[in-house]
This record gives sequence, structure tokens and C-alpha cells, in this order.
Amino acid sequence: MCGIVGYIGGEPAAPLLLDGLEKLEYRGYDSAGIAVFDDGAIKIVKAKGKLSVLKNLVAGRELTGCIGIGHTRWATHGEPSVPNAHPHFNASRTIAVVHNGIIENYTEMRKYLSEKGYRFISDTDTEVVAHLLDYYYSKTNDPKEAISRMLTRIEGSYALGMLFADFPDTVFAARKDSPLAIGLGTGCNFIASDAPAIIKHTRDVIYIGNREIAEIKKDSVEVFNLDLEPLKKEAVRIEWDVEAAEKNGFEHFMLKEIYEQPAAIKNTVYPRISGSEINLDESGLSDDDFSRFKKIYVVACGSAYHAGVVGKYVIEKLARIPVETDLASEFRYRDPIYEKDALCVVISQSGETADTLAALREAKKHGVFTLGIVNVVGSSIAREADGVIYTHAGPEISVATTKAYSAQLAVTYLLALKLARLRGTLDDKEYRDYVDELKTLHEKAAQLLGDNEDIQRYAAGKAGERDIFFIGRGIDYAAALEGSLKLKEISYIHSEAYAAGELKHGTISLIEKNTLVISLATQPDLFEKMKSNSEEVACRGADVFMITQAEAQADEKADFSVSIPDVLPAFSASLSVIPLQLFAYYVCLTKGLDVDKPRNLAKSVTVE
Ligand code: G6P
Repeated sequence: MCGIVGYIGGEPAAPLLLDGLEKLEYRGYDSAGIAVFDDGAIKIVKAKGKLSVLKNLVAGRELTGCIGIGHTRWATHGEPSVPNAHPHFNASRTIAVVHNGIIENYTEMRKYLSEKGYRFISDTDTEVVAHLLDYYYSKTNDPKEAISRMLTRIEGSYALGMLFADFPDTVFAARKDSPLAIGLGTGCNFIASDAPAIIKHTRDVIYIGNREIAEIKKDSVEVFNLDLEPLKKEAVRIEWDVEAAEKNGFEHFMLKEIYEQPAAIKNTVYPRISGSEINLDESGLSDDDFSRFKKIYVVACGSAYHAGVVGKYVIEKLARIPVETDLASEFRYRDPIYEKDALCVVISQSGETADTLAALREAKKHGVFTLGIVNVVGSSIAREADGVIYTHAGPEISVATTKAYSAQLAVTYLLALKLARLRGTLDDKEYRDYVDELKTLHEKAAQLLGDNEDIQRYAAGKAGERDIFFIGRGIDYAAALEGSLKLKEISYIHSEAYAAGELKHGTISLIEKNTLVISLATQPDLFEKMKSNSEEVACRGADVFMITQAEAQADEKADFSVSIPDVLPAFSASLSVIPLQLFAYYVCLTKGLDVDKPRNLAKSVTVE
């Protein structure tokens, strides 16, 4: 959450910082600010609200300095307000700080600093960093030494950008458990929480490690450990292009990303299949390793967790290995029973989700092999997991995930088939049928995106709903969880997903005349059951929107239905989720809400 950028070079910094922040707004957007070296002093401009408010303020100021840092905030400590917005100053306004993450011991640090006479003007945890830097800088007169000492005092997660008035040719940065990339330009350098903020200017980035300090000048970047010993860093080249992080004519990133799903699935699947064989060598696991697992934990948050729930059904069905799914925030504290010969799969688009990262570390600590399914190359989870399989969804900007979820599903299918092949749980023909299906899944997803006017019209008529229920069985239930989350995330309509068989154990009492129930019925062997469950709610007055697999199966009692192309039932979630995403999108659009930046949310949740 929160996005930070920094620039040092020969051009005015303010427009570059604002442009970078715009690309990071998905990380938080309740307030924003920049600090720029100008006329020998650090000048700060901050505003409450979306970035556009800050842009207007900056437009009225003559900020010409070529060095600066910026921040877009998702509040954790202190309400969104100008005093709580970043950057934060020390009392003499000679040190400015932007921060993403949480300083966990900030209460203790506030007390410590208050006793030394420091006064706080914000409610943030970040302000302690500015004052700690002031405290140590006054003792050492060395910014790196001050940063290193400050880092030994703070606990928690952070990516920090820092300016010292006495060093007007340097941007300083440090991180622990929050992402930070240093972009290497020609005659200029950058810092950013995420590559989209700087990809326009450079594709070469350095990722600094935990508790490392970077000293960034216009023509050089040096990285040090806490003892201020220099470290060697290799630059990584970002392969995707600028257009991938732009809207390209779509009204919203979400719609663009929904339409990019066929490509995300194909790009994720194809490089891993040759003939009928699935190659997951990149995961760091050999066939022998894969064969040894007797149990799988799948751990994630949000939509990535929902991808994991689909994965459980698919892996258990195809490879007959028991799979336990867990929300990362539960797994990390619930003291699970770690079994010998278990594999822990952690799924994360950003690769930075704090709970998922902590769950991964727990599993590693207990000797369990960890495998990350991650979209962002070089992210913390990608680096710390024992093995990683990348989803090739490209950069995802909209807060509500779509294409990354689809790519995560594709990896779970690859994993299921790999395990099934090694364990001999599918015969040759079955196995080949599944692989062939996987190879054409992207085409079927594209078919669903062809014409969606009906969904658009139907969704527009449902924008006034108060509650919407989703029901399904098996994989349809897993897909219902995601459909429901998508809807509530962006439309603010209360929504729940239920295993269809569970509805009558309480929830059915909420069904009234015209309550909308979205019934997923794509599993042929469960279709009759779903039909009965749909009729149970229809005869209590509900409007039913059914998603079925074959045209012939659509229930005539449904008010509206969408048929997905014929697909092997194990992979149906990849198709059924598309009308659900479109439904959520068009409801949100009709309500005139901010599709890409829904209230209170952030795309990358780097705090627990
Ligand atoms: C946030 C996002 C969700 C996402 C979840 C997990 O809550 O808003 O869309 O599913 O984090 O994110 P990850 O990056 O770990 O997949």
C-alpha cells in the first residue's frame, strides 16, 4: 500500500514525480505529496484526496528543482489529511521522508523521541523516521550513518525515500519487507515502489535487499549494508513494454485487463508445455521432488486465495493429493501441523502481500518447501520462496484483479497436471485431453469476450441492488467466491458466495422478492443439483442469473443466463469468472463509481 517515487537528474522533478505517482495510485489514493530540492531548501507540497488535487496545487507553485521524492498514501496510522500525508519533515525541515509500510514499534519510538524533546505534528508512524534521522544525523553528520542507526531502531516493514538538505545531490533509500526498485537512467536515476512508475524512463532496475541502504546520485547508485559496507548489485531488465501499463483506448484498466485474459492464460501456459509434457523446471523442483509430496498447502489472500481454492479442487481431482487451503493471515498464526513431504504453494500477484510473505516464512521455518506463484518478477515472495513459477499476466494496474487471477488459475492447472502425470493418476488419454484443453483455454476465454452487450444491459438493471448472492458447488463454488468478491470490491453492493447446498442452512432466510441470486452451474455432474437449488430460491421470489456450460442446459426459469463454451469441468472457473467480472464492471460503471480505484482498497497490501 502507498506508493513512493523519487527522481534525481537534469529535468524538473515535480512533473516526473507526479507522473510516477499516477502510475502508483493503485497502491493508495487518499492523499499525496512531493518534496523537491528548490532554491537550496526542501519544499514540500501535500494534499488530501486523489492525486489530481495535488497536481492542481503543484501547478500553482514554481518548483523547478531536479531532485525530489513523492508519495501516494493508503492510510494506516492517522486519517487521510494534509498533516498525515507524506513527505514528513524533521522540525528544522532539513530532512524529508516518504514511507510505504508500517513502523510497528512507533509508539515506543514516539515516546523515546518525545522524551528527547521532539514534537509530533502528525498521527503517522512515519514521522518517527524523520525525527530519528534528525537525532542520529545531529550526532554523526553523516546521512548514511544516520539512516543505518535509524534502521536498527525501527521494527516493521518499510520502503523509504529520504532527502537531506545538506546533500542536495543525493536521494537516499532503504527497505525491509516492502518493495522498492531503483531505476537506472542516463544522467538520471529513480526510485519507485513498482516498475510502472518508471518504465517510461528506464527498463533497468536494481532491487535492494532487506535493511540495505541506497545512495543515489544523478550518475551513480551505491548500495550498502547496515555496516555501510558497499554491496554489489546486478541490474535486472524489465521485459514488458510501456503500453502494457497504459489504458490503450480502454475506458478503464479493469476492462483492459479483463480483455487481456486470453493473452495472460496463453502466455502463462504455452512456455510450459512442449508436446504433451509439462515442464516446470523453473520452479526449482525436479520430477523426483514433485513425486515426493504427499500433501499440499495453498496459502494466499483475496483473489489469489480464491485461485487457490480452485486449485485445491483441481489438484485433488487430477492428482489425488490432499490440498489444504488457508488464508495467509490465518495460516501464519494458527500453528498448522506441518507434515513431512509437504509442499507449500503461496500465490500472490504482487509478491509483496505482507500476510502471504509471513506465511511463506513460517512454512520455510518449519522445513516445508515453498513454491511461489507470483506475477511480479523480483518481488519479495519471488525472491524468498524456494521455487517460483511466474504468472505471465503482465503488469496489472486496476485494484480489482482479473488477468492475474486467470493466470494464477492457469498455473494451478499446470501444477495439477504435472503432479497427475508423475503420480499416474490420469491415464494417457485423460492426461492428453487435459493438456489439449489447457492449450485452447485462451481461445474459449476470448469467445466469451466477443459480445457482452447482454451482460452490460443486464448489469445496468441491477445497479440498484442491495444484496446479491452467488451460489455454486465444487469448482463453481470456488468461482462464486471470486465473482462475489469482484462485485463487492468495486460496486459496494453487499454480496456473499455460498456453497449451494449450504444455502438452506440459514442464508435462504435472506431471500426476498427480486433478490438477485447468481447461480453457477457449469459442472455437468452437479447440474441437476444446481437447478434444484436455483429453483428453491426462485420460488421464494429471487431473480436468478445462471451460468451454465452448454446452451441446452440453461434453465428456462432463470431470468438471465450466460453459457460458457464447452470445457472440461476442471477448468471451467477460467471461463465462468469472465461473465462475473464483466457483470461487476458494468454494475460499477452504471453506478458511476471509480472502477480502478475503489474506496478503502489498495492493490498491494504490504501491511498485515
Ligand atoms: C489486495 C487486492 C486483491 C488481491 C489481494 C492479494 O487485497 O486488492 O485484489 O487479491 O490483495 O494480493 P496479491 O498481490 O498477494 O495477489
